[in-house]
Amino acid sequence: MQSFDLVIIGGGPAGYLAGERAAQAGLKPAVIEKRALGGVCLNEGCIPSKTFLNSAKIYDYALHGDKYGVTTTGAAIDHNFVVRRKNKVVKKLVAGVGAKLKAHEVPVFKAEGGITGKTAEGFTVQAGEETILGKKLLICAGSEAIVPPIPGVKEGIESGFVLTSREILDLTEVPESLVVVGGGVIGLEMASYFATIGSKVSVVEMLDKIAGPTENEVSAALQKACADKGITFHLGCKVTAVGADSVSFEAADGKQEIKAAKVLLSIGRRAASANLGLEAIGVLVERGAVVTDQHMQTNVAGVYAAGDINGKSMLAHTAYREAEVAVNHMVGKRDQMRYNAIPSVIYTNPEVAGVGETEQTAAEKGIPVKVAKLPMAYAGRYVAEVERGEGFCKLIMDTRYNTLVGCHIIGSYASEMIFGAGLMIETEMKIDNIKELVFPHPTVSEIIRETLFEL
Ligand code: NAI
Repeated sequence: MQSFDLVIIGGGPAGYLAGERAAQAGLKPAVIEKRALGGVCLNEGCIPSKTFLNSAKIYDYALHGDKYGVTTTGAAIDHNFVVRRKNKVVKKLVAGVGAKLKAHEVPVFKAEGGITGKTAEGFTVQAGEETILGKKLLICAGSEAIVPPIPGVKEGIESGFVLTSREILDLTEVPESLVVVGGGVIGLEMASYFATIGSKVSVVEMLDKIAGPTENEVSAALQKACADKGITFHLGCKVTAVGADSVSFEAADGKQEIKAAKVLLSIGRRAASANLGLEAIGVLVERGAVVTDQHMQTNVAGVYAAGDINGKSMLAHTAYREAEVAVNHMVGKRDQMRYNAIPSVIYTNPEVAGVGETEQTAAEKGIPVKVAKLPMAYAGRYVAEVERGEGFCKLIMDTRYNTLVGCHIIGSYASEMIFGAGLMIETEMKIDNIKELVFPHPTVSEIIRETLFEL
């Protein structure tokens, strides 16, 4: 039986990075992956959707080139080309992950991994035909789309009428109409793409706002920007049934039905904890998610879990950090996971990015705050580049310590800027110290500096 210091179940962002970091730390790890290295993020999530959205952005610029003195005639988008390019990008990055693991001499078992038990030497794991042993285990099995028991959904998925985020990324035709069930991150990104390339898109969302935990004003501004692009929103509407060519939902004024060529089901994801053999060694699972502490340890000594599987923050960048924390703890290096400064981004056009507290979460936690907000038009580069952009930046300061605790932005480059605000929050920088930092000019990031002086 092959024996390893660490057996990692799942080769997504948490799993592959853990393999790399463990090898760098001098451990002998192995990764088990049943599908493709890179997991959902690389194969059917973050990266594929960004190739779609970038093509949509270029197309949008081409359509509105006249705003910038550029004449474009016959601008068109070839969706099939976009899908083929997406596949090429994914292939390249998956190969890159494989090459990196190979360079670190981390073996990858291409099989389904299942924990079978514990011996004096460690944990036994079945990797397809082979049984391997891990002195320690790291569970990084990810998550899967929630498919609710709504009448007609199962049949719709079978017939190809209802798609999840996995299938929609391989859709070769542009649906004439698309009903998106769930106005969260996946729903909005796909709504943004398909509306730009010509589908008639409607979003049905149970809550009275889109983008769930997103700061309220940002969420409202994003909704307006999406509506201006032709997306119809049905808020406060719970989908109750899916027919052969329609979606039914309950609205405040009664039941409604809308026809659709395709339906995207994006009502959230759940940890993929079934069939891992967790019960064989008594790993604690709550509401489907593996319970972890600040070092990513489970209740079983030597067993860790990182990424979507613990259900804490289903984001690839959280997964990376959790994987590092887990490996560091295994090798006795001081480290722990902090969740207070994890940025979140929605790659719609305009982009939305936020980190830390909103006014609402601060109030819930009893944090006294001062808030400042400025239009993006205060950043020269933004005005130079974005015609009629209506974005803004909102900063939230903890008045007890004069530290930044929240930053929320809507507008181009938000995704690339938010890391700076995250760094300020994570390191608990005082506002006065942040004011001393020199930002490059002209950049859109200067909006953060400008807004600081309003606090
Ligand atoms: P989500 O949790 O972001 O949004 C799901 C939405 O569906 C919620 O607003 C919920 O109220 C609504 N909903 C639930 N049941 C409903 C019903 N019966 N009728 C109408 N609405 C209903 O989940 P989503 O968009 O599926 O994304 C899954 C995960 O993937 C998230 O955790 C997200 O963080 C991650 N992700 C992150 C991305 C990014 O960072 N840019 C991109 C895509 C996904």
